Amino acid sequence: MREPGADVHNLRERIDGAARICVLTGAGMSAESGIATFRDALTGLWSRFDPGQLASEEGFRADPQLVWDWYAERRANVRAAQPNAGHLALGAFARRRPGVLTLVSQNVDDLHQRAGNADTIRLHGDILADRWLEPCRCGRQRDPREATPGRPPRCPDCGKLVRPGVVWFGEALPEGALEAAERAACAAEVMLVVGTSGAVWPAAGLAATARRAGAFVAIVNPQPSEIDAAAHVLVPGTAAQVLPQLFHDAVA
Ligand code: APR
Repeated sequence: MREPGADVHNLRERIDGAARICVLTGAGMSAESGIATFRDALTGLWSRFDPGQLASEEGFRADPQLVWDWYAERRANVRAAQPNAGHLALGAFARRRPGVLTLVSQNVDDLHQRAGNADTIRLHGDILADRWLEPCRCGRQRDPREATPGRPPRCPDCGKLVRPGVVWFGEALPEGALEAAERAACAAEVMLVVGTSGAVWPAAGLAATARRAGAFVAIVNPQPSEIDAAAHVLVPGTAAQVLPQLFHDAVA
């Protein structure tokens, strides 16, 4: 039986000695910032809806105002949230050791960016960004921010709808994002997966990709995940508890 702290100590030593580290985060990364994870039961007004129904083009076309309002509430939550100790530990590490860490996130909030990881690879888009539901054909190529305010906003010339700049179920990931994430996973000496159920592909495949390429793979999660088999070590704990232990400055 290993001492519980031995895994964290061993992982910390690997991180300290690594020239290339890839970290993949999921909704659990932002849970301690007060942003509900995706597979937590929806609460309040939304408890009678399935996120899969709301987070889809079909759901948006079926009821644009309902979906727009759901995202508006989530956007307000993101803007009110603060990066937690886990986000801050990763941001401080990137400043202290430039070029070592590639951060890949499934999250659509901006907490990694606000903590200092501006170059985070966003696999599922940005909840604070707007985009057109369809190409705006009025020839004006307007910026969605010029749309007529509404729930949702519309193009003032052709009436096309604005939608949130996130990747919905069944949609392609942002151009180049997955390729960049896979390159980082293949190059990593240490691959750390934090706060994801591993339920959604292709993001969930990055841990196994890193392992096949020779990385030491560790998963930080208070619960088992669907990709635990890809890990050399499972660290039972939360992002805000564990990441400061792994990434804080040894000399501080
Ligand atoms: N610290 C670390 N992990 C946590 C914490 C925490 N404080 N709290 C919860 N978790 C873990 C849960 O145990 C769970 O494994 O975070 C994970 C959250 O899982 P999901 O809600 O499925 O979120 P995620 O894995 O990011 O979902 C992936 O699915 O719905 C799509 O696009 C959406 O990006 C999302 C993707």
